[in-house]
Amino acid sequence: MFDRQKKGDRAVLVLPHSRGEGDTARRAEEFAELVKSAGAEVLAVISARVEDPNPRYYIGSGKANEVAEAARALDADLVLVDHLLTPVQERNLEKHLGVRVVDRAGLILDIFAQRARSHEGKLEVELAQLKHLATRLVRGWTHLDAQRGGAIGNRGPGETQLETDRRLLGERVKQLTKRLEKVQVQRGQQRRARMRNTVPRVALVGYTNAGKSTLFNALTTGDVFAADLLFATLDPTVRKLEDLSCGPAVIADTVGFIRELPHDLVAAFRATLAEARDADLLLHVSDAADEERERLHRVVDNVLEEIDAGDVPQLRVMNKIDLAGAEPRIERDASGKPVRVWLSAATGVGLDLLRQALGELLGGERVRSPLHLPLSAGRLHARLKAAGAISGESIDEHGWQLHIDAPRSVIAPLGGGDPVEAKLLQELLAVAE
Ligand code: GTP
Repeated sequence: MFDRQKKGDRAVLVLPHSRGEGDTARRAEEFAELVKSAGAEVLAVISARVEDPNPRYYIGSGKANEVAEAARALDADLVLVDHLLTPVQERNLEKHLGVRVVDRAGLILDIFAQRARSHEGKLEVELAQLKHLATRLVRGWTHLDAQRGGAIGNRGPGETQLETDRRLLGERVKQLTKRLEKVQVQRGQQRRARMRNTVPRVALVGYTNAGKSTLFNALTTGDVFAADLLFATLDPTVRKLEDLSCGPAVIADTVGFIRELPHDLVAAFRATLAEARDADLLLHVSDAADEERERLHRVVDNVLEEIDAGDVPQLRVMNKIDLAGAEPRIERDASGKPVRVWLSAATGVGLDLLRQALGELLGGERVRSPLHLPLSAGRLHARLKAAGAISGESIDEHGWQLHIDAPRSVIAPLGGGDPVEAKLLQELLAVAE
């Protein structure tokens, strides 16, 4: 990371857009964030209206001249285009501009290459990079010999493969595919073993930077890399989730989703995203302070559908309430089922509510029953109340007359150490059976 910054990719960004397109400022900001995540310095951002893509450069030739001039004046060594380019367009642009050109897919691949941590993740990235490269190998690279250097687009297998012929590249792709299949079989076996244990599985999903890793760390112990960089998490990391009323569960952190994730990348990362597909519950994390959160929420839902995870039940987490100025709370639907939890993963406010909601959703069956508590059972009364298990109550000199409405899994552990209270609870659970 630091190496690269020292070497420095000095980049000019080109943002193609068409008339009537939504929020271009937001797109520009997000693309610049992506570029920074890749370790490059942003020298200038040039927007380019593209109504009718120019087959030669994608952007218009007048605009290509403007970019060439900016790249020269600013001594850039890289031009990044926020769109997918054909190999021919990339090559033509490189010739015209005299610097390396990397499109959106190349940039995202580069970031994935930096972030991949598990064996499987690394294999997936290398394979995707090689496939991306294979479509570009036909071209002569000599036009860039003088400028080569820098990192983005040259990382990973790039540099060596450029001198290698296509046959070798094909062999490597075959070898990687085989290895990856093997790893995926193993991962599938692990997943199935977990299923046999019937431990509920939760997967964190959400738009990049929503706070998934922060939440993952706050809910579990141990350390997962969380940083204000896009795609800080590439590989799902699975940990045990404890202190839930339903008993232990496992939770997986997944890669951050992003708009226009190139299609073949979605395919390449299917295995990484399989954790989401196989989960019992998705925790869909949104940044509550982001005005665009509903749109980003839909982007994530669309990707989930693409990977066949559209039917997995979701609990929405409205994160960063410290920034949004909102109160921690659980929102429920008409049947009382939690649908949203408002919290801050960074400050920890509302995490108890999330645990409670998870316990309810994963715990299943509800107990609905009257319960008489003597005044001596004040502590049990307080615990039932704190757990949100009381739907109605009155008090007289004999004690409380309560109406209980809560998942069995929430009530069962509330007995505490007191034998009288434990017996009262046991009776309640027995009546409800
Ligand atoms: P990707 O790995 O890119 O998908 O990101 P992510 O969703 O895992 O986000 P991450 O946990 O890395 O958090 C992104 C940024 O938001 C970091 O700078 C966090 O410190 C910050 N953040 C996360 N949760 C909160 C929160 O509750 N409040 C505030 N103020 N910042 C938060």
